[in-house]
Amino acid sequence: MFDSGFGGLTVARATIDLLPGEDVVYIGDTGRYPFGSKPLTDVRGYARQLAWSLVKEHNAKAIVVACNTATAAGLDDLRSELPVPVIDVIAPGSASLVRATVTGRVGVIGTVGTVASGAYVRAIADTGAPVSLTSAACPGFVEFVERGQTTGDEVTVLAERLLAPIQAADVDALLLGCTHYPFLARTIGDVLGPGVTLVSSADETAFAVRVTLGELGLLRDEGAIGEHRFLSSGDVDRFRELGSRLLGPELDHTERWEPS
Ligand code: DGL
Repeated sequence: MFDSGFGGLTVARATIDLLPGEDVVYIGDTGRYPFGSKPLTDVRGYARQLAWSLVKEHNAKAIVVACNTATAAGLDDLRSELPVPVIDVIAPGSASLVRATVTGRVGVIGTVGTVASGAYVRAIADTGAPVSLTSAACPGFVEFVERGQTTGDEVTVLAERLLAPIQAADVDALLLGCTHYPFLARTIGDVLGPGVTLVSSADETAFAVRVTLGELGLLRDEGAIGEHRFLSSGDVDRFRELGSRLLGPELDHTERWEPS
């Protein structure tokens, strides 16, 4: 699986917990982060390099695009050219969001790239659920997570400003449509209050991985013990330090990844 940085670790955590027997190779492309403010054509190119590297160099049997922006940039090419299944975060997250609402008023927050792409508007329409959607881009959230600053006054002030349209729309369920945002869930939850259910795509994506591998007969036998490798295109020491705080003890070592 891959992401621009630390965000996809939320998906890695959920996948390791659900499927402890599977090997996971995670690439955080911190050398080229952030993806959310870059042209989607660039992000599509990065996603291709990352996915092919996982297939060719790590013999991946499936790819998890643990990044909403990369998913929003378009996975059709990737899906048609790769010899393995590709699982994204947007479809599972959307399904989970429409299940979580009672009033039918839902929200999605994400990077500028994700929100501007309209990918969630399409994915939620595809669910067929009769909901009204309010979206908001949250530039700055990812940067706080990448700095390891997930709580505090500065994050709260920014959250109050960026979440104002979500509050005004009176939603009862909000999808964290960027894999970095679950690390800010405490602040987001405090700002929006207990009447808003926060939905993270991480768990739903892990379930989608299990379903896909199961359907293809690719799941490891129960009792297997998976190995976990973490790679970064940026500062590997920092990736290990902050990554182990965010993901947990499995991230005790980070290897260097170079785009080719
Ligand atoms: N974590 C990523 C996402 O889900 C992208 C963050 C970024 O690099 O801007 O969209």
